[in-house]
Amino acid sequence: MKEKIIINDVGPRDGLQNQEKILTPQERVALIEKLIEAGVRHIEVGAFVSPKAVPAMAGTDLVAAQLPVSDSSSEAFGFSALIPNRKGYDLARAAGINTMGLVIAASNTMNEKNVRMTTEQALAVCEDVLAQAKCDGANVVAYVATAWECPFEGIADEQAVIEITGKLFDYGASEVILADTIGAASPGQVKSLMTKLVAAYGAEKLSCHFHDTRGMGVADVYAAVECGIRKFDASIGGLGGCPFAPGASGNVATEDVVLMLNQMGFDTGIDLLKLSAAADLAAELTGNCDGGHAGRWIKRQIEKAAG
Ligand code: COA
Ligand code: ZN
Repeated sequence: MKEKIIINDVGPRDGLQNQEKILTPQERVALIEKLIEAGVRHIEVGAFVSPKAVPAMAGTDLVAAQLPVSDSSSEAFGFSALIPNRKGYDLARAAGINTMGLVIAASNTMNEKNVRMTTEQALAVCEDVLAQAKCDGANVVAYVATAWECPFEGIADEQAVIEITGKLFDYGASEVILADTIGAASPGQVKSLMTKLVAAYGAEKLSCHFHDTRGMGVADVYAAVECGIRKFDASIGGLGGCPFAPGASGNVATEDVVLMLNQMGFDTGIDLLKLSAAADLAAELTGNCDGGHAGRWIKRQIEKAAG
């Protein structure tokens, strides 16, 4: 049996939050449906954040209301949404989202820019939200943004990232996702931090989120796989970017990650050729999506298959 790796497509959130063109909830749902058709079962469908801060994520409740229901023949859909605070948690719960992704950055300046709180304040918010989630029996995962480098403060302090991760687990996060928000980490840096985190907390509860700003996204995924990580965020077509982190460009493309992992013999459950159709839709809807590095090669396989 092949070993499983879970791909969580964050295109409908990270991929769209910084786009000039704001998609309608219907368009966002259409993209989610295309991802599901390709076999993607974990999708970050949006964010419950201030619509003034991130206008493109307004209406995530409307997206949530139209999400397809898993049928018994396939693996259950894991839909998640990003939240920055208690209000986001309450709104996401009310919208029926079953996994909330709390976000906190490793650096103080990034927290001030992104969520308008100091790290200390943001940690207190995480503790409060996670305590509430425990009462509610709700699943909350936590993002540590700028886990390798901050656009304002530079290279992250590994010890600080390890400590924040530990606190999030102590507060009750079911999983912590280490995010290279600006796409600055090299595979060596990924290996260094993830080795320590895996030793401290185990690989099962950790996940990674890479951006491809310097073309190292796939290499970073590989480095984390070597450390035992078996769950990754990626974004269809390589869409992505954070409005509050200067220099943040697209996430590592789901197509590139799936091609590499499938070819390495892992089971992602994702059909690459169908995934290409989702990337085409992302390009059509946003008018601003180049697709992954492997896009042209995948297209040639589709042409070959069509004869
Ligand atoms: N969802 C929707 N609205 C929210 C909200 C949430 N989670 N949290 C706060 N708001 C609303 C408040 O109700 C208030 O609305 P009003 O002006 O109509 O009264 C307004 O936002 C300001 O609230 P306040 O608590 O003062 O927030 P703030 O201005 O200090 O901003 C955040 C803090 C966290 C709400 C905001 O910075 C944010 O949404 N950040 C998200 C950043 C993001 O998504 N980054 C990209 C992904 S990492
Ligand atoms: Zn991101």
